[in-house]
Amino acid sequence: MPCRIDTPDASLSKNRPAGPLPESLAWIEPELEAIRVSGLERPTRMRSGRQGATIDLDGHRLLNFGSNDYLGYAGDVRLSKAASKAACAQGFGAGASPLVSGHSEAHDALEKAISQFLDVEASLIFTSGFAANTATIAALAGPEDYIASDARNHASIIDGCRLAQARVGIYPHRDLSSLDSMLAAATWARRKLIVTDTLFSMDGTIAPLADLSDVAQRHGAILMVDEAHATGVFGIRGSGLVEQAGCASGVHLRVGTLSKALGASGGFVAGHASLIHWLRHKARAWIFSTAHPPAVAAAATRAISLVTTEPGRRHQLLENASEWRSRLRRANVDIGTAEAQIVPIMTGTPESAVAMAAHLASEGFFVPAIRPPSVPHGKSLVRASLSWLHTPHDLARLAEAIGKYSH
Ligand SMILES: Cc1ncc(COP(=O)(O)O)c(C=O)c1O
Repeated sequence: MPCRIDTPDASLSKNRPAGPLPESLAWIEPELEAIRVSGLERPTRMRSGRQGATIDLDGHRLLNFGSNDYLGYAGDVRLSKAASKAACAQGFGAGASPLVSGHSEAHDALEKAISQFLDVEASLIFTSGFAANTATIAALAGPEDYIASDARNHASIIDGCRLAQARVGIYPHRDLSSLDSMLAAATWARRKLIVTDTLFSMDGTIAPLADLSDVAQRHGAILMVDEAHATGVFGIRGSGLVEQAGCASGVHLRVGTLSKALGASGGFVAGHASLIHWLRHKARAWIFSTAHPPAVAAAATRAISLVTTEPGRRHQLLENASEWRSRLRRANVDIGTAEAQIVPIMTGTPESAVAMAAHLASEGFFVPAIRPPSVPHGKSLVRASLSWLHTPHDLARLAEAIGKYSH
């Protein structure tokens, strides 16, 4: 059928696709039904207002254990002010990719702030942590290369490996001897790359970074780590687990996100100046995508300065998290081997995770259910993300509600 050309208003309803799906899309409804019957349908909840210790979701105010706002900066007015000031001075849109004309003074200041924060030579910012991972991995590795990836790595790492079209070996979670044998067998590879989350986002476990850097060195492999959930939370300066483990010289690339503890948006990769300069020529999501708004960069820069000047937030958070995990373990709640501010409550099936999350919501807590594909089948869980904003009373109430439900 030829396309109609109407006036803007008239075209609104006449051209809107409606009714049954065309034959080419007829598979959608059965797929949706399969998602529903396996307990994997995901609602999109609507938040009103800002992130904080409480959150208003779909009209219900709940104590918020479901955001990655670990230090309470996402709703902090100091970030909003930094963003407003930059938006007024530099306009809102970046207008082009960084390589063309999108790299503003605000982006430049952010890259310098990240490099100083991490104590590295250079860094490169992306519109998201997801883009930073996919673009960096796909730039570093290709069909002649071997990537060894931890079994619990984030989806953005998995997709980066797919995009690279390299041969990928998945080593069991944190299993260094498997990793060692896999790398030893990849004698044919032009380059070897080890890639891992530092703090695993689903089970709250920590990668053995010092040992990983030894393995990388033994095999002449590149070591790339994703600090998404550790940036701002770990280390004396707050730059992450690499800093805390004292193995910065053995880690070649550090990816992070500005969207979690830093309360803003965007991702980064940081390391040797020449490596970062090379990525400016190879990282496609940086080259072919519009830079994020300068206002976002300014807010992230402000957040880094706050992390530096307010270390008490991360110290308090980690202390609270450690006490909370002990409390749950004493109550025989299965939290696996969690060791940070991300605390999973293992349930097993998707249905049991959804039932527990619904029960907790009925008691006034937002603690989301995490199901496949975010976790393997049989490993569904309810994930509590602790924030500096939570008071001891909030934490005690949630522990009590979980304890009661689990027994
Ligand atoms: C481990 C990890 N890496 C990367 C990302 C992606 O970061 P962003 O949300 O900035 O795209 C996430 C997001 O959840 C994550 O958990």
